[in-house]
Amino acid sequence: MEKPIYLDYNATTPIALEVITEMLPYFDTNFGNPSSAYAIGRTNKEAIIKARKQVASLINAKPEEIVFTSCATESNNLAIHGFILANKEKGKHIITSAVEHPAVTEVCKYLATFGYEITYLPVDTFGRVNPADVEKAIRPDTALITIMHANNEVGTIQPISEIATIAKKNQIAFHTDAAQSLGKIEVDVQKLNVDLLTIAGHKLYAPKGIGALYIRQGTKIENLIHGASQEKGIRPGTENVPYIVGLGKACELAQQNLSAISNHLSTLRDKLLRGLQEKLGMTVKINADLTNCLPNTLSVAFENVSAHALASFISNDILISTGSACHSGETTISSVLHAMNLDFRTATATVRISTGKHTTDEEIDFAVEVLVNAVKKLSN
Ligand SMILES: Cc1ncc(COP(=O)(O)O)c(C=O)c1O
Repeated sequence: MEKPIYLDYNATTPIALEVITEMLPYFDTNFGNPSSAYAIGRTNKEAIIKARKQVASLINAKPEEIVFTSCATESNNLAIHGFILANKEKGKHIITSAVEHPAVTEVCKYLATFGYEITYLPVDTFGRVNPADVEKAIRPDTALITIMHANNEVGTIQPISEIATIAKKNQIAFHTDAAQSLGKIEVDVQKLNVDLLTIAGHKLYAPKGIGALYIRQGTKIENLIHGASQEKGIRPGTENVPYIVGLGKACELAQQNLSAISNHLSTLRDKLLRGLQEKLGMTVKINADLTNCLPNTLSVAFENVSAHALASFISNDILISTGSACHSGETTISSVLHAMNLDFRTATATVRISTGKHTTDEEIDFAVEVLVNAVKKLSN
């Protein structure tokens, strides 16, 4: 067992070996430009076609509904800003939630500087949006609803298809950021009934620097950058073929193994939690409803233990993240935990532990031992 044990798969994942193998030829032998008419150009064009099919297949979309981008942040920008630019007549109101990633919130804030009004829906103590609140927030000038599929910090899954039904009834487009859910739980754009969906490569064993946006046929999007006609002009610029190939392969692997991966993630997450609860008892507070949560995510607070002190104390053994940030001696809690109404003490005691497909039983046994010893030592 190699240390430190990585238990922060929601931050990023290693690239799967099969993905690297698939990508490698496109760095040297198959280096052509996909727009070139000769053989190595065509090989690259075909590689993109294949990857587009692989991505589309994982989410039950049509290949022509997939646009490759550089990351989830870009996909969110293209979805929200691009939709707003192409649909100015629909009005100047956007509905989102109080627990979105900055890659959504900051786009909304930016649009607010152009006169857009943003409704940030509240969440319950587990970070869940109430669909009834979405319905109440809708106005005649609501142009777009954007609510994430699953939360990166606490793992809470939002009632996307219920919200989509409300959006459809009111003829409002609906975007969801699925950066965290893809590859961990089923993501089916027909069942979710969304118009736009964000995909992130590096959360799903593909490289950093590649993402995609699902755009339902008929949804108008204006490009944010201007250039040639790649990606139907919606996202111009010579395609990042090796990374596109990598994302395609990662999606294929996720589709082949989804239920096994999902089971593996939750079995180990639950084993970790059981171990902690057995040894630490009531001092472990879970910040999510685990029956409605990503299978790999455990957001917990250890009573009377500073999350920063804990994460740093164990960092030679286990890598985890915290629910608060520490700058110049001042601690600020995350906007997600704040929106969930967690008191300051619980929020600053919150850590996020996230398992991955490479996590082993042995690693979890070790993580329980390390965490229990550290919590006992640090609790005041
Ligand atoms: C839910 C969610 N959306 C968007 C992003 C942004 O991803 P990237 O930094 O790869 O653009 C992240 C990354 O943590 C995320 O968790």
